[in-house]
Amino acid sequence: MNLDSLAYEENYQKNLDFWETAWQRVSKAVNTPPDFEYVKNIPALLKKYEIKSAIDLACGSGWLAFMLAEAGFKALGVDISESAIKLADGVKKDLYQSNIDAEFQAQDILTMKLEQKYDVAIINASFEHFDLERAKLLLKNVKNSLNKPGYIYGVYDQVGFGNKGEFIELEDGTKQYHDQYRDGMFLRSFSDEELRGIFKELDLEIIEWDYVDNNSRSVLVKA
Ligand SMILES: C[S@@+](CC[C@H](N)C(=O)[O-])C[C@H]1O[C@@H](n2cnc3c(N)ncnc32)[C@H](O)[C@@H]1O
Repeated sequence: MNLDSLAYEENYQKNLDFWETAWQRVSKAVNTPPDFEYVKNIPALLKKYEIKSAIDLACGSGWLAFMLAEAGFKALGVDISESAIKLADGVKKDLYQSNIDAEFQAQDILTMKLEQKYDVAIINASFEHFDLERAKLLLKNVKNSLNKPGYIYGVYDQVGFGNKGEFIELEDGTKQYHDQYRDGMFLRSFSDEELRGIFKELDLEIIEWDYVDNNSRSVLVKA
């Protein structure tokens, strides 16, 4: 299936709507980085590869984009939720008096169109919210948003489903929830082998692969 039909499919739209509904419930932006070792190491990791600009894919209310901008990177945060972006813009204005190199845009990262290219695209704790086909397309398209050399840094969580919640299972194993709190949300578990296979298929060279907090896979690939 091509990108356009995938981007407008009804079940995918429901998943996107879920995120907007979820962010509408949030009244205060999360603007402090989570207390994980790998988070603290991100600026140093990027600097090692002379990376100067970053897109924070699925940025939420922007803590990572702000953290990077504070560390001297030019940062762009992109999220599907207008409400999340509004929170991020609010932090920029109130906490930094707009005096920080972090911009925010509400777009679907699957189909996003950007005005300029960046050295790295970062996806933290969000890849699991795509089904397999869209996850591959996402990385394929993100490659076009990057300078040369360009990098993609992902933190790919290990997804545990527990027994809770109501969901249907899509053909590729993605769960789409239909319970009260996650109505529409996609969640998929990507194994190490699958991730490695995706990078290989897309000609993305793995240059760093670590297991970090909660056994998440922290992976830097060269595009
Ligand atoms: C689990 S949160 C992670 C947020 C942030 N990356 C972090 O680490 O705190 C997932 C985020 O992905 C965003 N999102 C989900 N699907 C998206 C899409 N197709 N395009 C852009 N953002 C998306 C949601 O709005 C939400 O902010």
